[in-house]
Amino acid sequence: MSVDDIKLVGVMGGGVMGGGIAQTFIAHGFKTIVRDLNDDLIEKTRASMIEGRFGLKGSVDRGKMSQADYDATVARLSFTQDVNDLRDVDLIVEAVPENLDLKKSVFTELDGLVKKSAIFATNTSGFAISDLNKAVSRRDKFIGFHWFSPAFIMKPIEIIYAPETSQETIDTMVGVTQKLEKAPIRVKDAPGKYGFVGNRIYFAMVAEARKVLEEGIASAEDIDAVMQLGYNWPVGPLGMTRGARSGWQ
Ligand SMILES: NC(=O)c1ccc[n+]([C@@H]2O[C@H](COP(=O)([O-])OP(=O)(O)OC[C@H]3O[C@@H](n4cnc5c(N)ncnc54)[C@H](O)[C@@H]3O)[C@@H](O)[C@H]2O)c1
Repeated sequence: MSVDDIKLVGVMGGGVMGGGIAQTFIAHGFKTIVRDLNDDLIEKTRASMIEGRFGLKGSVDRGKMSQADYDATVARLSFTQDVNDLRDVDLIVEAVPENLDLKKSVFTELDGLVKKSAIFATNTSGFAISDLNKAVSRRDKFIGFHWFSPAFIMKPIEIIYAPETSQETIDTMVGVTQKLEKAPIRVKDAPGKYGFVGNRIYFAMVAEARKVLEEGIASAEDIDAVMQLGYNWPVGPLGMTRGARSGWQ
């Protein structure tokens, strides 16, 4: 399968990340269907994709997207609560909460349902791909696809390959990432470690910042201020955790 064969994308979980991921796909020409669990969650995601801080209306207001492009983009988006509606997708991007058992059960369910040629990509923050892929029979078509928050804005996507991931799957996902105007970074799966490149380094830094806080050396605000002012970081380690959880809304 190549990028051009991907006509329909299914996003599992329309939360902070799934919404931004779906928004990026529709803005780059992919028809996309988002599955979440109830009307309220779906409405919240739709509102954030359209009217939120990084929403599509803002792109129109700032002159980055024409009204015609906006109309075409929104027309590529649909939502469902019924997992059966994902049957015909060419690519699944899973963005349900970071819970290993939940992710595995979601993938096993999808594996029995979605057409055999479809690629399964997970936005896990750190679970090993060679473990998650045991939940499916298509281990060659299973890959890590780790975005950064806010998904519509941040450029890198870590493409994590396990020993079972085929070269074709890696190449297709690199092509998809380029079509999304993101930066694909190929990363080898590291079972036994949590996080790929970004999160391993970032979590180590957050852990140290928390120790400094617990030891009473400085307040949270001052820890962030040192890193922002001293190292020119746009946000400090503790502020970063709060922002990522909310999608910076
Ligand atoms: N927030 C971040 O900064 C960030 C960054 C990169 C990766 N991630 C990863 O992305 C994934 C999602 O994180 P999030 O912050 O978007 O979480 P979130 O809680 O905002 O969204 C998860 C969504 O999945 C839905 N969901 C739960 N079970 C489902 C199911 N069976 N089918 C369909 N939808 C289901 C929930 O209702 C919710 O809307 C996690 O694996 C997380 O580690 C998060």
